[in-house]
Amino acid sequence: MHSHSTTMATSNTPFLLLLAIAIFLSIPHLSHSEPQLTLDYYKTTCPDFARIVTATVTTKQIATPTTAAATLRVFFHDCMVDGCDASVLIAPNSFHKEERDNELNHALPGDGFDIVTRTKTALELACPRTVSCADILAQVVRDLVVMVGGPNYPVLLGRKDSLVSRLSDVEPNLPQPNMTMDVIINLFESKGITVHEMVALVGAHTLGFAHCSEFADRIYHYEKNVPTDPDMNPTYAEALKKFCSNYTKDPTMSAFLDLYTPGKFDNMYYRNLLKGLGLLATDQLMAEDPRTKPFVERYAANQTAFFEDFAEGMQKLGMVDVKTGDEGNVRDRCDVFNTFRT
Ligand code: HEM
Ligand SMILES: *[C@@H]1O[C@H](CO)[C@@H](O)[C@H](O)[C@H]1NC(C)=O
Ligand SMILES: *[C@@H]1O[C@H](CO)[C@@H](O)[C@H](O)[C@H]1NC(C)=O
Ligand SMILES: *[C@@H]1O[C@H](CO)[C@@H](O)[C@H](O)[C@H]1NC(C)=O
Repeated sequence: MHSHSTTMATSNTPFLLLLAIAIFLSIPHLSHSEPQLTLDYYKTTCPDFARIVTATVTTKQIATPTTAAATLRVFFHDCMVDGCDASVLIAPNSFHKEERDNELNHALPGDGFDIVTRTKTALELACPRTVSCADILAQVVRDLVVMVGGPNYPVLLGRKDSLVSRLSDVEPNLPQPNMTMDVIINLFESKGITVHEMVALVGAHTLGFAHCSEFADRIYHYEKNVPTDPDMNPTYAEALKKFCSNYTKDPTMSAFLDLYTPGKFDNMYYRNLLKGLGLLATDQLMAEDPRTKPFVERYAANQTAFFEDFAEGMQKLGMVDVKTGDEGNVRDRCDVFNTFRT
């Protein structure tokens, strides 16, 4: 375990240097309203930040291999709804409806929250009231992506945690599998994420699973006289029909989003799409729509290209509507707002 974290830290160094130079060179071009995050935000206030995160993540991911997919999805849902500000982490309570009260967030997996709690606990011991939950989530996700075989990329730091979490903000900001590609492209573009970055980011579906209810329409009642989506590979469709037959009685039934290598971060997801083996309607749609198809083909043919664009997309996603200065605070606990301080 020790050798793993050492390797990760060492291989980070060239990235960090390159990025530091890139940021330095681009400073004159940044507008003043753009939030100023930095790579070394915790250098003096919490020098062991990166090491503590990596150690906690490594232990958790080895014990519970579904953690990587779980946390990546939590991060996506946080950043899309009012920005990367840990607003999704606020636990439901009896006083107020939070983002987690929305149905779209009910299925968010517990391990994605647990890893943040564990990391926050470790960091509070080393440097109390210093590291934001939003930064923890961003750094944890990067370490998890690396652990399951995905690309490394630098994480800018200095996000503050939100002071609000609103149920009503969730629905308009999250993509759903029954949406058209127009709607989905607009949604991502409204966050500053381009089509090629979006196609690369949805490659996160190389990990994890979806509940049968999320794709039941595609296999049981696609259209009035056409039960099964013709874009789906027929053998795959038959297997899913059998597998999900009991899903209304047992709503926990779930299938892998990447049929062949669901625990490994690779480009198999795109290769599946080209064979009609996409699970969600929107996954398959990306391989059909002329705006997204070229990128699906590119990533299916070239894993390096996928990794580069995914890394770029994650950095973009991690900057969506971040809060700095007085726009937020550092929570004492990630799942509740601070009561006595701001
Ligand atoms: C077109 C856009 C997207 C749609 C419609 C979509 C929808 C979904 C749905 C319906 C599930 C299954 C949830 C369940 O049944 O519990 C899922 C799982 C997942 N999504 Fe997405 N998603 C999209 C983009 C993304 C992006 C951009 C990321 C991350 C960068 C992401 C990460 C994940 C992960 C990792 C899982 C698996 C979670 C697990 O196994 O615990 N998704 N997504
Ligand atoms: C998509 O599905 C959701 C929930 O499953 C539903 O509320 C919504 O109306 C559907 N949207 C479209 C465009 O069919
Ligand atoms: C279907 O789900 C119910 C509820 O979980 C369970 O009791 C039953 O054994 C399941 N049937 C099959 C065939 O899996
Ligand atoms: C794969 O993509 C990378 C990065 O864009 C590029 O440098 C490389 O030449 C590509 N490889 C092939 C075989 O096209």
